[in-house]
Amino acid sequence: MTNYKTVRKAVFPVAGLGTRFLPATKSIPKEMLPIVDKPLIQYAVEEALEAGIDTLIFVTSRKKHAISDHFDSAFELETKLAEAGKTELLERITEIVPDEVSRVHVTQTEALGLGHAILCAESAVGDEPFAILLADDMVRNDGPGALSQMMHSYRQTGASIIGVEQIPREWTSSYGIVGVEENEEGHKAIHTMVEKPAPEDAPSRLGVVGRYILDPAVFSYLRKTPRGAGGEIQLTDGISAMLQSHSVLAFPFEGERYDCGSRHGFIKATIDYALEHEAIREEMLDHMHTLLRKSGKV
Ligand code: UTP
Repeated sequence: MTNYKTVRKAVFPVAGLGTRFLPATKSIPKEMLPIVDKPLIQYAVEEALEAGIDTLIFVTSRKKHAISDHFDSAFELETKLAEAGKTELLERITEIVPDEVSRVHVTQTEALGLGHAILCAESAVGDEPFAILLADDMVRNDGPGALSQMMHSYRQTGASIIGVEQIPREWTSSYGIVGVEENEEGHKAIHTMVEKPAPEDAPSRLGVVGRYILDPAVFSYLRKTPRGAGGEIQLTDGISAMLQSHSVLAFPFEGERYDCGSRHGFIKATIDYALEHEAIREEMLDHMHTLLRKSGKV
């Protein structure tokens, strides 16, 4: 098998305004909102570590220290938990990121869009392929995580890869949409990429979700990308320009995705994770049963 460069670095853009969750996101990033007892960003970091990433690059806004604080050690809290003999809790806060994994924080001074946020990470990434994980897209899978699945495909092809999902046609105006053609190896090669098209203009129903493995060439295209949909520099537009010179594959990963950037997706994820959580599962089921009975649904 050809030896493609290893993907070691992952970028986590966490500098968006998170307007759909105001006022909760007025002073903390949306990615710090918890699903049961872990913030969204921690689920994404765990997925990246499982996929073999050894350098975590967070693109944060100037005002938000919550992300770096979350992954730093918390001396006072750790001492108190140790003194109280709460070893399990202590482990849960000290073992989030192993010591050998590096963390880098870069600042996006103005929320000019996801493409701009990725461009802010350019010097931290350098000239090597890298992953991007949007923590507000959560993927739950019993087997390997979404990024691990994509890494497997990357090792076979060496081509940039974008995570996609079949979405209902009426939702295309909320997603980046790709047009694909099956290549000789059976991969879905992207020939078109459009940000938030109207259903009648969408090249397919394959919506881009927040997982990418990209060739560093994308930076040179992003630098030339003008502001697009919503007045923002769109990552989709930068990747779309890159299609002229690089092959990019669409990858429908296995697992259930929750759009935790929306209130309904966030609540669905909360319910599903709560029902998987040993400590609270039974109580939650009883509660739901009561609610359903009261509403006359059962
Ligand atoms: P969204 O499109 O969900 O935007 O960003 P948003 O600002 O976070 O949320 P809403 O739409 O106002 O509710 C997708 C991802 O890109 C990051 C976000 O933090 C999120 O992870 N992002 C977006 C940035 O880092 N910088 C930006 O300028 C825009």
